[in-house]
Parts: sequence; structure tokens; C-alpha cells
Amino acid sequence: MRPQVYLYHGDCLEVLKKIPDESVGLIFTSPPYADRRKNTYGGIHPDKYVEWFLPRAREFYRVLKKDGSFVLNIKERVVNGERHTYVIELILALKREGWLWIEEYVWHKKNCYPGKWPNRFRDAWERLLHFTKSKRFKMFQDAVKVPIGSWAEKRLSKLSKNDLIRFNSNTRSGFGKRVINWLGKDWVYPTNVLHLSTECSFKGHSAVFPVELPEWFIKLFTQEGDTVLDPFMGSGTTCVASYRLGRNCIGIDIVPEYVKLAEERLTKEANFNQLNLVKHGY
Ligand SMILES: C[S@@+](CC[C@H](N)C(=O)[O-])C[C@H]1O[C@@H](n2cnc3c(N)ncnc32)[C@H](O)[C@@H]1O
Repeated sequence: MRPQVYLYHGDCLEVLKKIPDESVGLIFTSPPYADRRKNTYGGIHPDKYVEWFLPRAREFYRVLKKDGSFVLNIKERVVNGERHTYVIELILALKREGWLWIEEYVWHKKNCYPGKWPNRFRDAWERLLHFTKSKRFKMFQDAVKVPIGSWAEKRLSKLSKNDLIRFNSNTRSGFGKRVINWLGKDWVYPTNVLHLSTECSFKGHSAVFPVELPEWFIKLFTQEGDTVLDPFMGSGTTCVASYRLGRNCIGIDIVPEYVKLAEERLTKEANFNQLNLVKHGY
């Protein structure tokens, strides 16, 4: 079955009212950051960010399935020489609204070029905050396993007696491991840090993330046939990733040109074959 794609033009706050309760398996999105990109699609004042975000988050909560996940790609910006706290305030506000903050993943932008700032270094990472409605949520950890890596050959070639038992660190950090568990394994679970290059070649939108970013989370939290929502879809990267992986997708953007751009990208993705597309408002 070809995945179903729904593209909407409008403010996600209004558009989401048309989406049924508990119909979405994963919300993956990168919202407009506070006060950024005034010349393209605008931004929200950092002091007003939580107030702006919460009514939309209530709609996210309503449309998300009980065992679904919400992954928010965000980073606090520097205001008057220091990091603003709106992301921290948003996490606390979302928890008060009933969301569980399960994990924080880090996207390390591995192609960041060096730069000079008077009081800090080049920012080379962003947050991916994982929220759910319940402690029992869908997660397919085997879908994102990685090759064990070359370190294992040397390390596992000679095992000491401590490697055969669950050995607690000598530093008393509380961290214990049983090294023999890795023997004979080619694939292991990844860490919560994703090393991915930023998207440099795509000219249609100023804030595109690499398609591998949503792909990784879509594999981790959904199965074929599930529905993925990006309420701030921009050029539609999340929808492209969903389509590739056989998931249905709902994409919303307030700028009609971006919705058209997303449609163009998806049409190419479908190899110019008939796209299972439902268009709303553009
Ligand atoms: C950071 S960009 C997303 C970029 C996207 N991840 C991509 O790869 O192209 C945020 C997007 O949110 C859109 N936006 C801003 N406010 C919105 C709203 N209230 N409802 C829907 N979309 C909105 C902007 O037009 C912008 O395209």
C-alpha cells in the first residue's frame, strides 16, 4: 500500500482541529525558533514562546495515540549575551500539562565549520526532546541498531575475569557492564547522540533538517502504516522520510509556498508517479 500524504496550509493550531483524536503515532517537528528568521517565516519573542506553544501542544496531545511519541527539535537562542531559558520553561510547562519527558537526544551537527564569538564557541548541537503520554509507548530499538565498530575486535580478543561478570566501575560511578555480552555481536544499540551533517545544498527553505534525522525517529517509534505528523513541516522533510519508510504523513505549514515545495519534493520522491495526496487550503 502506498502511504497516504495529507498536506495542509494554515496555522497548525486551527488545522489540527480537523484531525481526529488519537490518530497519530509520532509527531516529529522543528517549530519556528524564538525570534529567528524574521525575514522568511517570522519568529516568536522568547519571553512569549511558552505561551505561544502551549495551545498548539494541547492539540498535539489530543491527536497523539496513547502509545505515541512527540519529538521536538529545538534549541534555545542567545539573548543579550546569555542563553534564554524558554526551552527549559517549555519542558516544565509541558510536564505540567501531562506530558512525560522521557529522553533528550542530541543532534551533533558534524559538519559545523569553526567560528569566533567573544564569549562562546560555535554551536554544533541541537536538542531532540522526546515526550509521551504514557510510560508504555511504542519503541522499536532493533530498527536503529548500529555496527559494533572496530574497537570491539581488539577489546574483545582478550577478556579478563572482570569482563565475564557484571563488573561495577572502580570509580564507584554506579555504572556496571558485562563485556562478554558483546562477544559475537555485529550490531549494537546506538547512543542518544546522532552525528549527522546539516543540510547545505537545499535552497528552497532556510531551516531544513537532514532527512536522516526524522528517518531515525520514525524507525524508532513507528511501524509501516502508522501516521506521522509534522505541524511545522517547512519544506516537508518529515513527510519525505515518512513516505520513504511507508508511513502515512500529515504536514502543515503556515506559508503556502512551503506547502507547495513539500508537494514538489514528495512528487519527486514518488518518482513522479501518482502520489496518494490529499491537499487542503492551498
Ligand atoms: C524550522 S522550520 C521547519 C523546517 C523543516 N523541518 C524542514 O526540514 O524544512 C518551521 C516552519 O514552521 C512554519 N510555521 C511557523 N508558524 C507556524 C504555525 N503557526 N503553523 C504551521 N506552521 C508554522 C514556518 O513557516 C516554517 O516553515
